[in-house]
Amino acid sequence: MTESVISVERNKELESVDNLIYIDKTPFTAVTEGKAEVLFPSSHDVFYNPVQEFNRDLSIAVLKQFARDPPKTKSKAKLANSSENSDTPGISVLEALSASGLRAIRFAKEVPNLSKVIANDRDTQAYLSIQRNVKHNKVENIVQATNEDASLIMYKNRSYKDRFDAIDLDPYGTAAPFLDAAVQSVKDGGLLMITCTDMAILCGNGVEACHAKYGAVSAKIGSCHEMALRILLQSIESHANRYGRYIVPLLSLSVDFYVRVFVQVFTSPATVKESICKLSMVFVCSGCGSFYLQPVGTKTITPHGQKYTPSVGPPIDRKCSICGHSSFKMCGPIWSHKLHDKVFIQKTVQHIEEESSLYNTSKRMVGMLNVVLEELEDFPLFHRIEQLSSILHVKAPSSNEIRSAVLNAGYQVSLSHTSPTSLKTDSPPEVIWDIMRAWANMYPGKKTFELEPSKTIMSKESSIEVSFKLHPDAEPKSRCNNLLRFQINPAPNWGPKCRATTSVNNDKLEKTRSKQKSKRKEKAEENHKENVKRMKGEENDEISSENCK
Ligand SMILES: C[S@@+](CC[C@H](N)C(=O)[O-])C[C@H]1O[C@@H](n2cnc3c(N)ncnc32)[C@H](O)[C@@H]1O
Ligand SMILES: [Zn+2]
Repeated sequence: MTESVISVERNKELESVDNLIYIDKTPFTAVTEGKAEVLFPSSHDVFYNPVQEFNRDLSIAVLKQFARDPPKTKSKAKLANSSENSDTPGISVLEALSASGLRAIRFAKEVPNLSKVIANDRDTQAYLSIQRNVKHNKVENIVQATNEDASLIMYKNRSYKDRFDAIDLDPYGTAAPFLDAAVQSVKDGGLLMITCTDMAILCGNGVEACHAKYGAVSAKIGSCHEMALRILLQSIESHANRYGRYIVPLLSLSVDFYVRVFVQVFTSPATVKESICKLSMVFVCSGCGSFYLQPVGTKTITPHGQKYTPSVGPPIDRKCSICGHSSFKMCGPIWSHKLHDKVFIQKTVQHIEEESSLYNTSKRMVGMLNVVLEELEDFPLFHRIEQLSSILHVKAPSSNEIRSAVLNAGYQVSLSHTSPTSLKTDSPPEVIWDIMRAWANMYPGKKTFELEPSKTIMSKESSIEVSFKLHPDAEPKSRCNNLLRFQINPAPNWGPKCRATTSVNNDKLEKTRSKQKSKRKEKAEENHKENVKRMKGEENDEISSENCK
């Protein structure tokens, strides 16, 4: 079939969907999720990934809270005068990469106060599917299907009067190519909801690819999933800054095989100047994994106002003061400011709990968001308990034991939602290694400390008195309350799905896709094993009621 024949046939198909009054369900597979029922012509024509229901549920919960009570950093008066605030009641949403239209239809049916939702996909089969599903769900008054390139539709709507209140980007792999358009076509105070599934790149496999896409160097470190979030946020901020805009993250999550961030975008060239202080480079010791942040810039207050200068560094000596190793990896820049707005999250959780029957994944949402609420806000990245102990070749302390030791030493500690064995703290790395040294002396492993880096670490004197006595704050509330904090994913269906196939595939394309598919399958199986391993670290321990106040 030639291209022109295909396009004539597609146009006929488009017209035929447009003229239909109702949809005959018989030739389709119907999938119900939330309040929407979507029809798929075959399992492969249009993209649908059932394991992304959590992503969609969460987006609905966040969008609902945003529509009800958008956090404001500007005065109400200023917002009211803004030329971007139209008189139309309700908020406008663009789902720029919509596939079947499921997410957009769920927005229309489940989020009150929406004036319009544009469900866009450049793929013709997807566009047909959106049209069909919009009709089938009777949301034509709110959802409009469009068949354009995602960036193009955003650029077309970047003038003040046309900007969207919220934009959802849920691409295959990276969202990087869409960021420039997205930061320009969202209103002042508007919401960007962005997914990236290229976790390998964001987590240190292919630093050059990460730099090319996101303008930052990633690293394979224990806290790489939090670093992935911070690299993405840094990238959105940098795109926004070019247009006198800046971001305020409301919620930043690493989930299963992807990251999902919800950020507000504001316009203020004065605040944009602060960005240089919200970004940091990270130095990671190649011997013991200790990490140090170096802000990209510093703000000083002078008698004549504020001054921004490059920060003075590096923050470490050439030789690691802990293990004596003399090489540090430098990564970043990362977003080193807050990842979340906890007041906003608190309200979102409250709403999810009140309406839990509306979401299939409410238990997981509440569990994960409670861990987020417990996260220490101002201390980027973290140690992993099993990595600390493997460097000294000793058994790992339980999370309660090591958390107690940190608290007994006078420092704060929390989990990160990105790992059940995370140890996030405000203590300097020296204190963590004092604790691990004391632990290794109490429970030496079979291996002696003759090799580096354990040799140097164990030869040092501790600067603090270490106590593993159970501290009353060691057990996180989310665990005492038995919340579903870290979910082990079922192996089948788990992972990013392949792109939808179209009716004009050639053999070469098919081969590439099947190669990609088996690669993804391998990766998903690997990730699943890793996840189960991580989970065993903590969630399977008995919770002792005496540890819970
Ligand atoms: C991962 S799927 C979206 C899934 C959907 N958001 C959901 O929740 O079910 C990505 C979609 O983006 C579409 N797409 C890819 N590149 C695009 C572009 N440049 N412009 C518009 N659509 C695009 C694909 O056709 C595909 O349907
Ligand atoms: Zn070191």
